[in-house]
Amino acid sequence: MRWNQSLKGMGIAACAAAVLGLASGAEAKTVQVSLTAKEVPTVIDNKGTTQLSWTFNGTVPGPVVRVTEGDTVEFTLTNEKSNKNSHSIDFHAARVNVLDEFAPIKPGETKKFSFPATKPGVFYYHCGASNMAQHIARGMFGVIIVDPKKFSKDYPKPDREYVLIQSELYSNVDDVDLIMSGKWSNVVFNGTVLKYDPVHDPNATKTLVAKPGELVRVFFVNAGPHEFSAFHPIAGIWERAYPSGNPANVMWGMQTLVVGPGDAATLDLISPVPGGNAIVTHSLKAALTGAIAVIVFSDEADESMGRGDNILVR
Ligand code: CU
Ligand code: CU
Repeated sequence: MRWNQSLKGMGIAACAAAVLGLASGAEAKTVQVSLTAKEVPTVIDNKGTTQLSWTFNGTVPGPVVRVTEGDTVEFTLTNEKSNKNSHSIDFHAARVNVLDEFAPIKPGETKKFSFPATKPGVFYYHCGASNMAQHIARGMFGVIIVDPKKFSKDYPKPDREYVLIQSELYSNVDDVDLIMSGKWSNVVFNGTVLKYDPVHDPNATKTLVAKPGELVRVFFVNAGPHEFSAFHPIAGIWERAYPSGNPANVMWGMQTLVVGPGDAATLDLISPVPGGNAIVTHSLKAALTGAIAVIVFSDEADESMGRGDNILVR
């Protein structure tokens, strides 16, 4: 493809960094972030079925990257030598040159670049190597959260936080024509069919949890590659919704927020009662194949959930 050819040879060789650095604080700082493209099997359902995925750091989704508005991200991408394909990174939180920073690198290569995180919010990151739809469908996506410098009345400090990323599974991930046709077999949250839904899948062992009255903040990314999301909490109402996660974009009392492929939003949820909500895409042909996440509200909610590393429940 012409697009791909124009990107060839633009990988920058540099040394690999080993640690994915995540930090936050009031002072602007430099944050080291390293991601490694790995072509490895990952689990796609609660029975343990695997597919040969293309990943960042071996997991689908990739690691949560979290910085604060004003920070500088010093980023390193490594394409593992044992991989068969070129890979790249596309951070929606960055304003750079698509032909340079976002250009693919070959197996065995490493590249580095940096960018200032100028806009607060929740942003998609993904591989942009050709065929981009295939690289996303095989699992090369994640979220970068750029926290605002401070909380406010319209963007209060949450009690718990969860990351949900919608994406599509295909019956044959080697079949680029199938992926380009959009004929997915399942739409899922966080890479796995009904991962947090023991109601519809007895093999599901996990749910999201919170206490009644707690402010639960959901960082949502629609990785696509093709389906829109009609993001809705069944038996709940989004207290506030922030398109792109920017606190300035506050919307109140939303039932459903449409989040297109490549877009993201932050949404606040409070349950006044014990029980549960089912977070879905209300495009039901998608939800009923796998995009349902149950959140259980109970006074006994595990204190470790929705905090620290447990904002993305693996
Ligand atoms: Cu890739
Ligand atoms: Cu993108």
